[in-house]
Order: sequence, then C-alpha cells, then structure tokens
Amino acid sequence: MSNDWWSSISGLGQRHSQEADVPEQDETITSSLEAESVIVVSNRQPYRHRFESTADGEKSVAVDRPTGGLTAGLDPVMQRLNGTWIAWGDGDADRTVSNSDGQVRVPPEEPTYTLQRVWLSEADVAAYYYGYSNQALWPLCHVSLENTQFDIQQYRRYRAVNETFAETIVEHTTSESVIWFQDYHLACAPGMVREQCGDEQFLLHFWHIPWPTVPVFRICPQARALLKGLLGNDLIGFHVSEYCRNFCNCVSELLEDSSVDVAAGEITYNGRTTAVRAYPMGVDAERIKRRSLNVAESAWRTFKADWGIDPDVRLVLGVDRLDYTKGIPERLRSLERLWEERPRWRGRFTYVQKGSESRSQIEAYQQLQQTVREISARINERFGTDEWQPVVLIDAALSREQLSGLYRYSDVALVTPLRDGMNLVAQEYVAAQVDDDGVLILSELAGSHEQLGDAVLSINPYDISGQADAIERALTMPEAERRHRCRRLRRSVHENDLTAWLEDVFSTVSDCKSDKT
Ligand code: G6P
Repeated sequence: MSNDWWSSISGLGQRHSQEADVPEQDETITSSLEAESVIVVSNRQPYRHRFESTADGEKSVAVDRPTGGLTAGLDPVMQRLNGTWIAWGDGDADRTVSNSDGQVRVPPEEPTYTLQRVWLSEADVAAYYYGYSNQALWPLCHVSLENTQFDIQQYRRYRAVNETFAETIVEHTTSESVIWFQDYHLACAPGMVREQCGDEQFLLHFWHIPWPTVPVFRICPQARALLKGLLGNDLIGFHVSEYCRNFCNCVSELLEDSSVDVAAGEITYNGRTTAVRAYPMGVDAERIKRRSLNVAESAWRTFKADWGIDPDVRLVLGVDRLDYTKGIPERLRSLERLWEERPRWRGRFTYVQKGSESRSQIEAYQQLQQTVREISARINERFGTDEWQPVVLIDAALSREQLSGLYRYSDVALVTPLRDGMNLVAQEYVAAQVDDDGVLILSELAGSHEQLGDAVLSINPYDISGQADAIERALTMPEAERRHRCRRLRRSVHENDLTAWLEDVFSTVSDCKSDKT
C-alpha cells in the first residue's frame, strides 16, 4: 500500500452537495481509492449465498444481503476501498460459490472486492454467535440485564473462534496492512493478531453498539480479558463520545497497570498506546436520495394495494430488525394508547412495521416476535374496521424500490430504540425525504440523537404517553415547520454521510500511523 493511500481518499472522496450529479460521485470515488491493503473483519458477511428451488424443481443459488447497519453501511465503503473482507460464511451455498481458499469476489453484479469466508462448525455458532456474542455482550452493552447470561464454555468457544479469525487475518496481512475489526463478536482477536504480528500493522476496531458504564460492564466475569484484547488495537472507534468515556473509565477502573487520559482519549497499557475516538457513522445519503427520487408512483400504489393499505390514509412507519432493544412493543403500546384515548385518530393513519427476523434461535428473540404479533393483532382487533387496518406487519423481504417507497411516502417515522449504538434507519428515512415533508420521531437513547436531536421530535421510549403525544404532534405539524425541520435534518445527514465518516476514521488512522513511525 502506498504511503499516500489516505490522501487518495481525502482528495477525491469529497462530500457532495444535495444538488450534485449523483452517479458521477460514486464512480469518481470508486475509481480513485487505492487502499488495497485494508482488511475488514466482521462476524456478519455482506453477501450470503443460499440454495433455492426453481419452479421446475432445479436448485439455483440466490444471494442475500443480510440486514443490519454494519453490513449495509460498510459494503459501500468496501466497494470504494477495494480490499478484503473477512467474515463467517453462514450461507448454505457459500462453499459452492467460493474457491478452495474460501474466497469469492463481490458484489455479485459488479465485483470490486474479495470476501474471504471463515468456516465455523455448528458448535462454534451455537456458543460463539448465539451464545457469548448475543446472550452476553449484546444485552450487556445495551444494558438489557434480564437477557444477559455468562457461560464460561461459551466464552471459551468465543475465544477459539476469535483465534480462527486471527489466523485468517495473519494469512492475509502484509506489514502495510490496516486491519479493521468490526463490533463485539471480535473483542479478543486484536490482541491475538498483535501477539502474532508484532507492532507493524495498524489495527483499528469500530464498536458499533453502545459501551456501558463501569458498574454495568464490570458485571461481566470476562471484563478484563475483553479489555485486554481490545487494547491490541491502535485505535478504537465508537459512534458517540459517551461510549468513548465509558470505555476509558472501564479500562481505568479494571486494568490496574493502565494509564488513561479520558479527556484526550488515550490509553497506555503494556507499553502500547491506544487512541479512543468518536466517529458518528453516516449513510450513503446520495444513493438513498437517488433511489427515493426513482420510486415509480405506480409501483408504490401497487405495493399499498398488495398490503391492503388504504390509499387515502396517512402512513406512520417503523423499520427494524426484530430485536428487543428496538422498543417495538413500547411503540405499539403508544399507538394503542393514542387510538384508545383519542378516537378521532382511528381510520386516519396506518402504522406499517417492517420487521426483519433476527437471531431467532435465542428465546428472547422468539418472545419478542411473538409479543409484536400479539400486540398488533390486539390493536387490529380492537380498532380495525372493514375499511381500515391500523397495524400492518411486513415480515417479507422488500425490494430496494419498495423500501424506498415506504421511506419516501411515510408521513412519520418512529425510531424508538430502548438503547442503540447509532441507528442508521433514522438517517435513511431522512435521506429519503426528497419532498421535505416527513417527520422523524427519535428516541433520546439512540446514538443518532446526538446528531439529529435538534430537528426531530424526541421521545423517551419508556414513556408510552409521551410517545403517543409525539405521534399526534407529528401528524398535526404545520407544513412550514415540517419542511423546516426536514431540510435541517437532510442537510445534517448529507454533511455527515458515509464518506464523511470514512474520512474521519481514516484521517485519524493516518495521523496515528505517522505518530507510530
Ligand atoms: C447490529 C450489530 C451488527 C450485526 C447486526 C445484525 O447492527 O451491530 O454487528 O451484524 O446488528 O445482526 P446479526 O446478528 O444478524 O449479524
């Protein structure tokens, strides 16, 4: 990798104004980035291949794009960086389409980078993914303590899988590599790679979920080992400064030999320095805007008819992975309260919940799915009429155009997590508001509230009545106020888009690299 790989990003990946010629932007950036030694490492892969049966009974291979902010956000980044992405190959056709080393070029329609798959056994997946990652670290970091369990066997398997990832990384690294870890599945891997490779490579980690306070994090019996693993990195990024402070405080409290400057975000441990910084992640706002502008009205009308949505009522939208951190039951209860206490709203708007099934082998997720179905059915039973269905649950996969239509034409979006590292759905909704007339209701407990809080309707997701009030306020907001808020939000989302995030992260990498040499 050339020394000026960062300048190739910073010089040509400029952010574009909302009026920019959008297709040119993508081409310019893609052709100009030459950071070929960037290795992204995550649990979830950006493309999953699976077998499906064709109408004539044959088997063919289909490609899915798994849901979740991490892969949706980083795939466009990797398309620009043109490096290698290492991730768990969990699709049943993944081996068939990969070469003997587990590699496949992606995106399928126009390959620009290499996806290196890591193969895991069923026992690995049960203990590392469904176990320690998603029943210990995920609920712990979201302070959902009733869903948290620590099991030493699962932790051992988590470490072993981290070791497998570390070995794969070591096979791909050169002394120039920048290794970019993602998220909570891989907390131990940086320390392992560092041990094997020494100090030459640059290791950075982006933690996409919240980092809790000291009293919460120290509940974890493996707290110290996790911190030590993460301090193998040169740089650790979080979405907001609160999580950076929490992380620094945890190191300071739990690792006796550490020296921590919380204000500067500098940790020295074991003779190495790790920088800790906040980088609020953005979305590819221009691409979302373009898709939104391209939604055909006829396709949108067909979509509404297919889902039994009355063409004349207004739409309130929720788009979530079906996760207990997203606050979906609380949101539904707020809607129920609104229709119950203020009957004038009956028949006047429909709530559409697009919910993607997630982590369904875990009981808490099964329960959540069941609860969402039950409350929705109860609401429809209580208030629905022959002409009007209050809640429409969509669990089918939607095409990009359908989702763009939902974003563009919904009058109000409800993004109301109980706790969320960032929440990119909020930004996607804003970026799709090309008519400047939607209202975003946003939880104060989502990371994205730090950036968007001034122009949204803020709610506390636990406050059911407060949420009901906010929905009513959104539906009655005068047009001028709607437009004013929407323009401010769009400006912010475009200014702080994915390119801006990438530039921020990699300008620190560049600085830290020069400090290192
Ligand atoms: C969150 C996490 C990601 C994860 C995504 C989807 O956004 O931060 O790491 O990939 O959820 O969850 P899943 O378990 O399906 O990967």
